[in-house]
Order: sequence, then C-alpha cells, then structure tokens
Amino acid sequence: MTNKYIYFIGNWKMFGKYKTLKSLKKVITFVKKFKKNKFRLIYCPPSTLIHPMSEIFKKTSIDIGGQNCHHSQNYGAYTGQINSKMLKDAGAKYVILGHSENRLLGEKDELINLKVKSCIKSGLKVIFCIGETFKQKKKKNTKKVINNQIKKGLKKIKNKRNILIAYEPVWAIGSGITPKETELFDIIKYIKNRLKNVKVLYGGSVNPKNIQNLRRIENVDGFLIGGASQDSKNLIDIIKKTYN
Ligand code: 13P
Repeated sequence: MTNKYIYFIGNWKMFGKYKTLKSLKKVITFVKKFKKNKFRLIYCPPSTLIHPMSEIFKKTSIDIGGQNCHHSQNYGAYTGQINSKMLKDAGAKYVILGHSENRLLGEKDELINLKVKSCIKSGLKVIFCIGETFKQKKKKNTKKVINNQIKKGLKKIKNKRNILIAYEPVWAIGSGITPKETELFDIIKYIKNRLKNVKVLYGGSVNPKNIQNLRRIENVDGFLIGGASQDSKNLIDIIKKTYN
C-alpha cells in the first residue's frame, strides 16, 4: 500500500489549547521536506482551534476538518451548536460525522444522514465513521451493523465523491487493541464492494508501534488517528513508518 495516496487524519477530540498549536511547527517542517510519496494530512481540532489552525497551515498542504456539526444549513437559535457553513467559514474543508463517541451520546443514523447532506451541500468533505461494538463483534454482527449504518447514514446520497469512510470498531478506540490484519482486510473489502469507489480509512488505536503492520493491509486508504495525533512527534513517526 505504500505506493498509494494515503490519508492521515488526526482527530484531536476534546483536547488542545491555543498554546498547543506551537507544536505544529514541527509537522509543517516535516511535511515540506517529506516528499517521498503522496499523502494527505488533515487535522480535526476542536472548533475553538479551527480558525487559528487554518491560519498556521495557510501556506502548507495540510487541511483542517471539524469534528461534528448541527444538521441545519440555516442559522438559528441553537445554543452551543455550529453548522456546516460556519465550519467552512472558519477554514474547515472536512468534517467527521457519525463518530461512535457522538453516537454514544444519542446521535442516531437519521440525524447523521441529515448532517451528511447538509455538509455536502456546504461543500465539505465528509469523514463518515462506522463501526461495531465489542458485543456486536462477538455476535458476529459486524457486517450487519456497518451495512445498516451505511444504509441509513448515507440514505439518498447518490454522489459519494465527497465521502470518505472511516471504519472504527468501537472496541478498538483508545483501547490499544486493533483488529487482526486479515479481519480488517475483509471488512474493508466488504465496505468497498458495498459502496463503489470510496476511500476507506481505518481508525482505532493507530500508533507508531502498530503502523508498520497496519500499513501492510492492501486495501486501506489511510488512517483516522485519535490520541497519537495530539503529539506531533508521534504523528510524524506514524507517517514516516508508513513509508519505510
Ligand atoms: P484513538 O486513536 O485514540 O484510538 O482514537 C481513534 C478515533 O476515535 C479517531 O476518530
């Protein structure tokens, strides 16, 4: 997979202060020098840092994404919410939707579907997250679960050009455990058969130690990285090791 165009997407979740942005200088220097292969680096910081980060990355190839948004394209009386237009205005080109941490807070497929539609209309690229819980995996329901998430979450969206799928098994997130390589290959193959011509990324405990195994999975188009993306050195290590 190392000859391919690979996505590295850092999801900072609810971490990061204005001061943290200083550490990104290292990443900018690295990205400018590291021309071994084509890759795309995207940071999804908390909303408070989208704009300052987009200023820092202005003259670089690094893009920014939001981590979620409200489903309405219109402005309105929705305290605490931001919509897809606002994300774009702040400098985001991408947005993560359907993350299991938001599904856990009660976000349903139908609402995610409205968000996907709104974001595409606003011209954002969507990183659409799917994945099964440990219980569902044990019951051998993985494919059924992700099929359902795709069916409902991407309902009536014909043009999938601006959608990237992130397969993130819930049990692999923040646990230090990753699926077996054969298992992952099989699930990604299933997703790619189900949705033609989409990029499929893997997310869940990606770190500098396991990236050399994960990168060998032929059909993976990139990685959605949580914890390890908050440390510039770790993220640089992950990218370097993908191409070693
Ligand atoms: P970790 O890499 O911390 O397991 O998080 C994965 C994730 O949820 C990315 O969206």
